[in-house]
Amino acid sequence: MREETSKRKAHHIDLAFESQVKGTDTRFNYEPLLSEHPSDLDTTVNFLGKIMRFPLWISSMTGGTEKAGFINHNLAKAAHKYGLGMGLGSCRIILDDHTYLPDFQMRKDLGNQPFYANLGIAQLEELLEANQSSKIKQLIEKTETDGLIIHVNPMQEWLQPEGDRFKQAPLQTIQQVRDLFEGKIIVKEVGQGMGPKSLKALMEMDVDAIDFGAHGGTNFAMLELLRDDEEMMAQFENLTYVGHDATEMVDLCNDLMDTESSNPMIIVSGGVSSFLDGYYYINKIKTPAVYGQASALLKRAAVSFELLDDYISREIEGYKLASSYLTIKNA
Ligand SMILES: Cc1cc2nc3c(=O)[nH]c(=O)nc-3n(C[C@H](O)[C@H](O)[C@H](O)COP(=O)(O)O)c2cc1C
Repeated sequence: MREETSKRKAHHIDLAFESQVKGTDTRFNYEPLLSEHPSDLDTTVNFLGKIMRFPLWISSMTGGTEKAGFINHNLAKAAHKYGLGMGLGSCRIILDDHTYLPDFQMRKDLGNQPFYANLGIAQLEELLEANQSSKIKQLIEKTETDGLIIHVNPMQEWLQPEGDRFKQAPLQTIQQVRDLFEGKIIVKEVGQGMGPKSLKALMEMDVDAIDFGAHGGTNFAMLELLRDDEEMMAQFENLTYVGHDATEMVDLCNDLMDTESSNPMIIVSGGVSSFLDGYYYINKIKTPAVYGQASALLKRAAVSFELLDDYISREIEGYKLASSYLTIKNA
């Protein structure tokens, strides 16, 4: 015991000069006197009628490539173990052909956790135009999901060499889907977020949840440019800096919130790098919310379940620690 203490003291002396931290995270009040260390803190949230034991949403990602099944199974197993929610990546590839269907069939791994299918505005426009809206219901049935995520990605489609063009405003398409499809609907961007008029329109529409897909993390406009040639990058890179980050979108939502009636559930996502950001946003926003991550989870899920498992358990511990000692300034 004495030997251990002495070793620790020697470490402290060795490392003291390396541990000078510059900068303060000024978003929080730190209250070290008011709580014991967390043990059984309740972090459950009701997500559109289902229980999440921890408010981390696994944002929509991949499907239909060689590694997608492996990644999705790891993500779904983790969602089950920790009581999370999960969105699938675009399900376009399984609308008419079932070759890749097993990559998307995660219900067995997930148990009863919230689980949503995903289609883009362009595919929905096409389905509606061809009078094939029944395929949405079929998609929900074959993936055993709880509803549909609609991703709205005009910049990505335009910059994608093989991208689609929208023939009408996405809002119109979302409304048409809302009128025809009885299930739950979540609407999201894919890394640029959305401004006040779009957010307001969505909040006034009868959608069940809004997933920010805010600016500041993975950016699909940039991703498509990276797939293109240097000239395209030189001329259009400027567009990748356009958008709204999660902090701005939380403020926008708070301004737009209707205090008289119920507001959609919010998934704060896009550049949400850790539990600390998640804790901040969930407590800052004035409506029930969870935080979402894509790339941070993908990085681990693509390697092994164990790596993902360790990452999520640390996120939960960190979140609980934050809940015990941090409050939000100006909340
Ligand atoms: C590999 C990858 C694939 C993605 N595919 C989709 C998709 O098919 N549909 C969708 O709505 N969003 C998709 N996204 C966007 C994410 O859901 C999320 O909005 C975005 O990555 C921002 O989150 P992040 O900063 O935590 O990565 C994808 C993201 C990644 C990293």
